[in-house]
Order: sequence, then C-alpha cells, then structure tokens
Amino acid sequence: MENIIITDGLRKSYKVSKQNTLDVLKGVNISVPQNKISVIIGASGAGKSTLLHILGGIDTPDRGKVRIAGTDIFSLGQKKLSRFRNKNIGFVFQFHHLLPEFTALENIAIPMMIGGSSRKEAFNRAAELIEITGLSHRKDHKPAELSGGEQQRTALARALSNNPELILADEPTGNLDSANAKIINDLFIELRDKYKKSLVIVTHNKDLMAIGDNLIEMVDGVVVKNPATTG
Ligand SMILES: Nc1ncnc2c1ncn2[C@@H]1O[C@H](COP(=O)(O)OP(=O)(O)O)[C@@H](O)[C@H]1O
Ligand SMILES: [Mg+2]
Repeated sequence: MENIIITDGLRKSYKVSKQNTLDVLKGVNISVPQNKISVIIGASGAGKSTLLHILGGIDTPDRGKVRIAGTDIFSLGQKKLSRFRNKNIGFVFQFHHLLPEFTALENIAIPMMIGGSSRKEAFNRAAELIEITGLSHRKDHKPAELSGGEQQRTALARALSNNPELILADEPTGNLDSANAKIINDLFIELRDKYKKSLVIVTHNKDLMAIGDNLIEMVDGVVVKNPATTG
C-alpha cells in the first residue's frame, strides 16, 4: 500500500505565558495511505486541527517533516509551497467561508479565476463539479438560500476545483444534521472510489468512522493509533 503522506516527528508548541508553553504536537509520526479515507479522532484539544493544518502546509511545525507524494513540503519556499498546495490539496472546513454575495456556481468558479483560469474554463469546470456534488439544480442560488448541507457540498466542490489528489477536511459535518452528514459521507466515498482521491478527515461522526479505512486516534498531542503504520 502506497502512502500519500508520511510525517516524521512533528512537534508544535505555543507559548501561552511567560513561563508556560503548551505542547500541542509531541512528535507525531503518521502514514496516510493513498486512495483511502483516513479518519482522525480524539477529544477536543488533542491537536487534530493543528495536525491537519500542518499536513496541508497551512501551518508550520516547530520540528519534523511532512512528505506528500515524496515532496518534503516545508523544504519548499513559500511560493513553491503555495503552488504545491493549490495543485495537490483541497481543504474543507467546518465553516465553509462561501462568499455571500455570489451564487454557488460563482463561489466555485471565482477561486479558479484567481488561480489563473479563464472565465470560460472556470465556469465549465465549476458546472462539472457542481454536478458531481449533486447541486446542479441549486447552482444559481446564493449561500443564504442553500441549506447547511448544500453549502457544505458547494465548499466541497470548490475544494475539488484543481482536481487535487488529497482532500483534507476538518469536522466537515460538524454543523449538519444526520441526513446531510450522510450525503457528505457518501460524497467522500465516491471521491475515494470513483475519483481515486486520498482523504484525511477529522470527525466525530460515527458513520464516517465506520466507513474510514484508517482510523488515526490522537490523545493529548500524540497519535496512539494509526493502522496504516502499525499494520
Ligand atoms: N494559535 C494558538 N495559540 C495558542 N494555543 C493554541 C493555538 N491554536 C491551538 N491552540 C491550542 O492547542 C490545543 C490543540 O488545538 P487543536 O489542534 O485545535 O485541537 P483539536 O482540533 O483536537 O480540538 C488546544 O489546547 C488549543 O487551545
Ligand atoms: Mg479542531
């Protein structure tokens, strides 16, 4: 089994007062298998979001390495790292950060235009993505006119715009009822099986834990379980 992400001794601390530092990651070594759903679980404050942000290169560790598809991401300069991220990683957060004054379709297309796509390319691709996430009939609606589940599906479509191989999601169903959470979970499965994506999802959702291929458990800044590493 190929691993898309391997980490080596990730450490992260915050200085919380003159005397005290908070060790959030205390030497995290994990492996994330390719084309699988890895689920990160653990109590609030365990360091899950910090780890996910570092895996995606949107936060930096104090020590340690993240290798994604063979690339040591923190050895890249800022500019290269941001290009690497845009090309290879799609993020989904608990709060979707959609632009309220634009339609679902525009919310998906605009980041592509900012990334250098022509208007036509961006809107064609956005229409494709909105089809994948099952929202074609809602494409001209603004976020406020969409349900929470539809908003999150729009955010997921937006995360897929550059066709990244890796999807990182932080409590993506945290604000959704179980019916909408199930739609998102089914989409994750489709992304794995039909589109061959690798996913890392921080979640408390029991259904997603059940379908996850690799359950990573964190306790207090340490990974206590990662089947992909331990076999
Ligand atoms: N920028 C920061 N400054 C200080 N403490 C932080 C910062 N970000 C996170 N923390 C602390 O680090 C710990 C882990 O946070 P986080 O990774 O968000 O945990 P989780 O996602 O598992 O709930 C928490 O105690 C949190 O308060
Ligand atoms: Mg968190």
